[in-house]
Amino acid sequence: MMRQIKLIIVLLVAILALIEAQERPSYIGCLNSIECSASQCCTISQQKYSSPTCDNLGIIGSSCRPNNEPQEFHVSYPDGFTAILTNTYLNLCNCSDGLECEVETLTCQASNVTTQ
Ligand SMILES: *[C@@H]1O[C@H](CO)[C@@H](O)[C@H](O)[C@H]1NC(C)=O
Ligand SMILES: *[C@@H]1O[C@H](CO)[C@@H](O)[C@H](O)[C@H]1NC(C)=O
Repeated sequence: MMRQIKLIIVLLVAILALIEAQERPSYIGCLNSIECSASQCCTISQQKYSSPTCDNLGIIGSSCRPNNEPQEFHVSYPDGFTAILTNTYLNLCNCSDGLECEVETLTCQASNVTTQ
């Protein structure tokens, strides 16, 4: 009896998880940069109803924003879907590893290597 109840609960949880996964609209590319590949981050633009998408980290010459901190965004869409985006960047990802955002040009450039 206890086993059967456990099984039913496990099944219910699995079904609910499946429904939850399906409920996410296709225009939601990501809810957190963790969902993107290692060379990407989750970005959103300031435009109304902007879709969060996985975008590539900056390469040399890419536009960048200095002090581009990951943020939390509360988004809602005309169909009533709402979500909280975490660890998401406004407009642009950071530069790739080994690069930094040069303030003069606002582009990703190789970090200055300092030798001791
Ligand atoms: C992106 O850059 C900001 C500002 O330099 C930094 O605080 C943040 O940790 C960086 N994000 C990642 C994933 O390294
Ligand atoms: C590296 O140093 C040069 C000379 O000081 C400077 O002009 C340049 O902006 C620096 N690069 C970065 C990515 O900060």
